[in-house]
Amino acid sequence: MEIAMILSGEHKTLPPSEVKNLLRAENIKYKVKYLRDKLMTLETRADKIPIFSRLAYTHEISQVISKTAPGGLEETIKSIPWEELIEDDFAVRVKKIDKTPIDSPLIEKRIGTIIKKGHPHFRVNLENPKTLIRLIIENDKIFITKRLYKTDKKHFNNAKPHKRPFFYPGSMSPKLARCMVNLSGVREGETLLDPFCGTGGILIEAGLIGAKVIGVDIDPKMIKGAEENLKYYGIRDYELIRADARSFKLEKPVKAIVTDPPYGISASTMGEEQEKLYKEFLKTAKYNLQEDGRICMATPHYLQLEDITDEFTIKEKHAIRMHKSLTRIIYTLEKTGGSSHCK
Ligand SMILES: C[S@@+](CC[C@H](N)C(=O)[O-])C[C@H]1O[C@@H](n2cnc3c(N)ncnc32)[C@H](O)[C@@H]1O
Repeated sequence: MEIAMILSGEHKTLPPSEVKNLLRAENIKYKVKYLRDKLMTLETRADKIPIFSRLAYTHEISQVISKTAPGGLEETIKSIPWEELIEDDFAVRVKKIDKTPIDSPLIEKRIGTIIKKGHPHFRVNLENPKTLIRLIIENDKIFITKRLYKTDKKHFNNAKPHKRPFFYPGSMSPKLARCMVNLSGVREGETLLDPFCGTGGILIEAGLIGAKVIGVDIDPKMIKGAEENLKYYGIRDYELIRADARSFKLEKPVKAIVTDPPYGISASTMGEEQEKLYKEFLKTAKYNLQEDGRICMATPHYLQLEDITDEFTIKEKHAIRMHKSLTRIIYTLEKTGGSSHCK
């Protein structure tokens, strides 16, 4: 089945990458058919759709029924076997991907009328339709789709750092944290470590997708606060340890390390020079990570991981401009080779 995904416009490369990494981690075959701006379509199996509810940067998913140029829209609509696609009642809604000026309400009304005329027994329900026909318009292309799934924005709003029981400045947005968890490829039941866990923002997102989580922080105040936050969001399968990420060693290596180490003025580096801290952390990370594991970490732009480690290979790099003098880089890393979990 070809599905259309309407991606968040918050970032250019993170949303499609999050989708691809999730599919890869879950061993789901797919083929990207179209990717431009906020629209990505791909061929994949229909029964795999529920997994997409994990995604942070995808707004909605729909089944592609047909594609047409604007001039052919009405004829294409008439040729579609709607009785196989519409359940009970329906509505037509336009989603404009680019800035082409179009009269969306007029198109919705015209297309709704054509469908209704061909199938008088279908009821129109503009409030809460069982079937939503989504016309996704991008430049000179119209994707005629049926909506399958819409992201619940409530969680990402409710989990914002200042809404958690324990707040401390410097925690990233829950959306970015969830995206990093997905970039790491961790699956339900596998273990994820955040060795600079702070208030637990990354651990919450990993816990919510069913991963077991281990959080480490040098500051006991953070460990106590992270525990409060994890409990508040219903995460039960966690372990929190007060330790130094530069020397902390796990008994058993984990599938994923996702972390936002301290940098800049907002987070304390406990007196350590940053590059040294990162280097030492990556050494222990090599020990703590399974051979087939992955690290997803945020760094400030002035620390190039390429220059810091040759023990890990950089798989992906995404830049997020924070302000004039700071850009955050989100890296995914995999072990360059060899077994490291030895005594
Ligand atoms: C940018 S904050 C992490 C924010 C976190 N993602 C959150 O959601 O709150 C960095 C954290 O690293 C901790 N830290 C600093 N140096 C450390 C070290 N050597 N080992 C472990 N934790 C350390 C700080 O106490 C701080 O909580």
